[in-house]
Amino acid sequence: MESIQSTIEKMEREIALVAFREDRVSNLPGAQPSELVWRRLASASLDKKRAAQRRIVTLDRLEGATFRFDILRTKILRTLRQKNWTSIAITSPTPGCGKTLLALNLAFSFANLKECRTALVDLDLRRPQVGNVLGIEKPSSMEGFLKGDNSIEEVFLRYGENLAVGANACVVPYAAELLQSSEAATAIKNLKDKLRPNVLIFDLPPMLVNDDVLAFLPNVDCVILVAAAESSTFNEVDICERSLSQQTDVLGVVLNKCHFSPEEFGY
Ligand SMILES: Nc1ncnc2c1ncn2[C@@H]1O[C@H](COP(=O)(O)OP(=O)(O)OP(=O)(O)O)[C@@H](O)[C@H]1O
Ligand SMILES: [Mg+2]
Repeated sequence: MESIQSTIEKMEREIALVAFREDRVSNLPGAQPSELVWRRLASASLDKKRAAQRRIVTLDRLEGATFRFDILRTKILRTLRQKNWTSIAITSPTPGCGKTLLALNLAFSFANLKECRTALVDLDLRRPQVGNVLGIEKPSSMEGFLKGDNSIEEVFLRYGENLAVGANACVVPYAAELLQSSEAATAIKNLKDKLRPNVLIFDLPPMLVNDDVLAFLPNVDCVILVAAAESSTFNEVDICERSLSQQTDVLGVVLNKCHFSPEEFGY
């Protein structure tokens, strides 16, 4: 039988080997130190019932609506790959069009692709809702993160292996000023460099209400505009699309809250 001493020695050798490997991973040129950052993120569990009540439908394959998000996901991913883009802002003309819901459903839909690393950041600094929908008890301060005071590990939680979510606890009165600051640009660049997500989604405020979106757009590759079928007007969508396209690429307009669904294909 193996002695305790030799077992301890074996364990010590194994621990030393793991440390050596991690050290090599983080020091090799071209290696992926992001693996270590992902592993250091606190793992969060999701209350699926709560999420379903708040219309998160991409966790399971139970809802017909899941497939609409999956189709959207695949179209977005194809464009991101073609253009070598990673970051997407989500905005709408006015409040309540469904930005947060789209951001979360897309994030979980992307996370179902095991090889796709996705990060979702709540940058609606005036009405942060991501933490509330997910039931995060004590979301960290996004203001602190954007100012460089809080680290990625302090602010982001990991759902499963490949989805990182940065929620926000506090309303930020000078949001537009913060979002266009060089500190915020540095924090976002740091996030991209360290997590190296394939898809980085920013849940932003509505754009006809304040200048937060215009202030932040230089940090993203493209934008999705969400319109609510029952409340957004053609004029609002037109104004927003023109304004956005002067600064970035508009990936598309998502028509949400539409009562008339396309013909079912019986599959
Ligand atoms: N397709 C939909 N069908 C039914 N309800 C929806 C749909 N999309 C969003 N909602 C509901 O509408 C409300 C507003 O959605 P959400 O918070 O996602 O909008 P928002 O654009 O992020 O709002 P805000 O501008 O306040 O950030 C929520 O209660 C949400 O559950
Ligand atoms: Mg919202």
